[in-house]
Amino acid sequence: MSEQSVLRHPEEFEVMIDPERIAERVREMGHELSRDYAGKDLVVVGVLKGSMLFMSDLVRHIALPLTCDFLRVSSYEGGLRSTGVVRFDFDLTQPVRDKHVLVVEDIIDTGLTMSFLLETLRLRGPASVRVATLLDKPEGRRTEVQIDYVGFTIPNRFVIGYGLDLEGRYRNLPYVAAMRTSARES
Ligand code: PRP
Repeated sequence: MSEQSVLRHPEEFEVMIDPERIAERVREMGHELSRDYAGKDLVVVGVLKGSMLFMSDLVRHIALPLTCDFLRVSSYEGGLRSTGVVRFDFDLTQPVRDKHVLVVEDIIDTGLTMSFLLETLRLRGPASVRVATLLDKPEGRRTEVQIDYVGFTIPNRFVIGYGLDLEGRYRNLPYVAAMRTSARES
């Protein structure tokens, strides 16, 4: 691949998790999920848009005849901080009654999005609901939420790439980049 075809992050950001570490961890998570869900009717639910890269890589490492579905909620309105109000933009295409649901997120920060989602999904009678997130930012938490599978626990920094955006852009970076502390102060 030529250097020119690889997107770079803005200069106020720096690489936090490179593509190799992501690939290795996603593979491990896939293997763990393959074991945990063996013999179960698994539906993997991606929370758009941020989960798109993680979800597509993760399911390729889950060696089970799962189904995929998507929903979309939003709370950041393209900015740096959660508005605290979670909005349902669109819903799943199939009922989840009696199915084992794995909700896949790119990041859990305040936990408000996931609490809302778990509450909503549990009302639909699934056999189980668990959560897998690529990134967990525990310092940002404003409500308690149980996360079953975590790729990386990260400090309280604004991150972009591998699905995560800055005003809608940079989701296609092949790595996770964090805003430099100095850039945040200025
Ligand atoms: C991001 C992320 C989670 C949520 C996590 O979504 O994908 O859904 O924020 O934050 P929280 O724990 O503070 O609620 P966002 O609303 O930015 O939409 P996007 O996935 O389309 O980028």
